[in-house]
Amino acid sequence: MISCRRLFSNSAIHLHENPLGLPRQKTVPPQIPRRTGPPAKRGIPNVKKVLAVASGKGGVGKSTVTVNLAFALAMLPSRLRVGILDLDIFGPSIPTLMGLVHAGEPHLTESGALLPVTNHGLSTMSMGYLLPKGIDTAVVWRGLMVQKAVQQLLFDVDWTGGSGGHGLDILVVDMPPGTGDVPLTLGQLVNVDGDKETDVKVGSVIVSTPQDVALTDVKKGISMFRKVSVPVTGLILNQSHFICGNCSTPHYLFGSPDRFHEAAKQMEVDVLAELPLVPGVSKDGDSGIPYALSGWNENEVGGKIWNEAMKGVAEKVWATLQRPPSHVTL
Ligand SMILES: Nc1ncnc2c1ncn2[C@@H]1O[C@H](COP(=O)(O)OP(=O)(O)O)[C@@H](O)[C@H]1O
Ligand SMILES: [Mg+2]
Repeated sequence: MISCRRLFSNSAIHLHENPLGLPRQKTVPPQIPRRTGPPAKRGIPNVKKVLAVASGKGGVGKSTVTVNLAFALAMLPSRLRVGILDLDIFGPSIPTLMGLVHAGEPHLTESGALLPVTNHGLSTMSMGYLLPKGIDTAVVWRGLMVQKAVQQLLFDVDWTGGSGGHGLDILVVDMPPGTGDVPLTLGQLVNVDGDKETDVKVGSVIVSTPQDVALTDVKKGISMFRKVSVPVTGLILNQSHFICGNCSTPHYLFGSPDRFHEAAKQMEVDVLAELPLVPGVSKDGDSGIPYALSGWNENEVGGKIWNEAMKGVAEKVWATLQRPPSHVTL
């Protein structure tokens, strides 16, 4: 194992082809076609199932849900091996939420794959680990650069590292907001049906808040995943209500959840949970200890509901991903 060298120090041409600056690997990952022809799809090495967590808008709690859902999955009785992949290239927040801001650069295997960075018993990979530290570095990429970086993060991570050499039962992917290059690349390159030995079964969860501005984008998110043949496992309404310490009545601070349920029905997608607004969820996220781990205190009534709802989502998602391939036709 060697230490990953500092990134973004390569020539422009090298950067374009290899944005993460990884050494050449023996196995060539699938390539995005330049103009025509279908891309070569494949599974993600050492990963059995993938769950993409997406949203139409930023700031709705997608990364928070990703991390807490990953722990809820890991805590199911089947004791799944779970990893988190942060594909939010422009705004990675998994290092913060996992308490890994000072983790340093990932190590590389001898064949040049990235080794996941682990905390609280979960393996993670994020663009955040690959940016030079100490300055406010912004990724200013578009088009092919983003596609290539996503390709490297999908196929050039050795998920057997950090999971006792076994690989992962499920990889939870924190997607960037909106309908851009990243979901397209995922849909183009990853075999989603899980019907061959090398395939990986993929599902997705779309997170929204109750406001109309967020809701409009949920429909776009569903339609985007359908276009790239990634099955939508269900929707999560986050910050749906607030329960104060003095009463058990839900306060719908951002409006009634009815419109969200109507939209879900219209689009024929299940609602997996309504998650309350819980101050501790935010506080613990900022301090790098996911709420699923830190537990809840009695003054925070919504916290218990949050954790139970998250457990319910984990059970539903895992059950759905066990089903035989759907053979989505478009
Ligand atoms: N249910 C919730 N209760 C309290 N705070 C929340 C909840 N969901 C998200 N937050 C907070 O909202 C902010 C945005 O969440 P984040 O997960 O970063 O959103 P996104 O990934 O969609 O941009 C964070 O500060 C997070 O802690
Ligand atoms: Mg985020």
